[in-house]
Amino acid sequence: QVRRTDGLVEVQITAQQSHLILGGKPVWLMTYGGFPGPTLRVREGETVRLKFTNNLPEPTNLHLHGLHVPPSVDDSMALVQPGESRLYEFRIPKGSAGTYWYHPHVHGRVAAQLYAGLAGLLVVEGPLDALPELKEAEEYLLVLKDWVFSGDRIPAWTQMDWMNGREGSLLTVNGAVRPTLRAQKATLRLRLLNASNARYYRLALENQPLYLIATDGGFLEKPVELTELLLAPGERAEVLVRLSRPGTYRLQALPYDRGAMRMHGGMHSVMGDQGMGQGMGTMDHGGMGGMGDTGTMGSLMGMGATRLETLLTIVAPANPKPMPLPTSLAPIERLDPAKAAATRRLVLGERMMQAEFFINGRMFDPGRVDIQAKLGTIEVWELVNETEMDHPFHLHTYPFQVLSRDGQPAPYRAWKDTVNLRPNETVRIAVPLRDFGGITVYHCHIVEHEDRGMMGVLEVR
Ligand code: C2O
Ligand code: CU
Ligand code: CU
Repeated sequence: QVRRTDGLVEVQITAQQSHLILGGKPVWLMTYGGFPGPTLRVREGETVRLKFTNNLPEPTNLHLHGLHVPPSVDDSMALVQPGESRLYEFRIPKGSAGTYWYHPHVHGRVAAQLYAGLAGLLVVEGPLDALPELKEAEEYLLVLKDWVFSGDRIPAWTQMDWMNGREGSLLTVNGAVRPTLRAQKATLRLRLLNASNARYYRLALENQPLYLIATDGGFLEKPVELTELLLAPGERAEVLVRLSRPGTYRLQALPYDRGAMRMHGGMHSVMGDQGMGQGMGTMDHGGMGGMGDTGTMGSLMGMGATRLETLLTIVAPANPKPMPLPTSLAPIERLDPAKAAATRRLVLGERMMQAEFFINGRMFDPGRVDIQAKLGTIEVWELVNETEMDHPFHLHTYPFQVLSRDGQPAPYRAWKDTVNLRPNETVRIAVPLRDFGGITVYHCHIVEHEDRGMMGVLEVR
């Protein structure tokens, strides 16, 4: 449903209930017509006229995560009622080539709606995509998302889900369990999105480095070689993969401990029933509230890491000859913290057992402005995590750069909209507020935490 006439892209997106097969079983979801939703592929400078229709039995809306567009358009407080439509019209900014996504943003219902499958990619192309080293690479879009079902439904949230953010033991890539990707070329460009509510993916390719070329807000200055890449909820990354020998390569999620409480042991039969097939050491869902068919609760509760999972198998072509890496990508301006018009401190806090979350001691209130900033300035924000758990901090409307982490300067410049904070960590970011005044929000992208208060309001004028 895309129409394109000189620089104008017209698209329609509908949110609806859908009955799909996931992990081999039919399930009821809420989607934009399938999971993941249709990928919007646009070019820098184009105008997008997006007609969004809500065919769900509850209010929803559409948030353009990461895209630098006016908050009056990307208004996360506006609701689209059942049966109604809303027109989102915006221009794709120059220099924004990268991987973005869209999902609902109804405070209090984000966890339920995102978990149920309302997510899709928005890919922005720009002049740099014509670089031979990128153009000749084979591109794949990979949406990572975990699930849990009770029969063919998503079960109700337990208190533990609200505390931790809900994970699930059914891991999918583009809605498929451990799919195989048969590469035609020896150089791949993977556009990765973590669309999970709360699961972190510590990604690694067996015996093969990843070459990071882009983060949330687009290209780096040059590729960065990594042995692993942590993708927190909401984050995106683009990597080049060079398949230098024939055979298979597994993309894995390595164990990661984000400080969530987990139940241990006793869950083999239940998880086996969900088609996981591999012995379960850790249970990532259920607990406190009692969970219907996940009845046989393990005995131990504590902190713990997720277990190693294979997400995807890549099969290299015969006689693979990977291309050289691009030597330079996009220049990224240096933001001088000395020129900041204001320096602010945002402290993340929680009352864990109540599953209440705070920024600077306060829970979200849509009627309150938490930060007043001046349009046309740059600010430095000091993000402080005073909790025992990781939180991915996300700011709408204004892409930012990470300056330092616990005093250590960032290893390279990058445009971000979501940055992870480890327990007791302090991250300093530089936020240019150059254009688009208005009211927007920042929040934790463990969306249960967002629904339970970890969000604030920024007014720029
Ligand atoms: Cu993807 Cu306000 O979030
Ligand atoms: Cu967002
Ligand atoms: Cu959080």
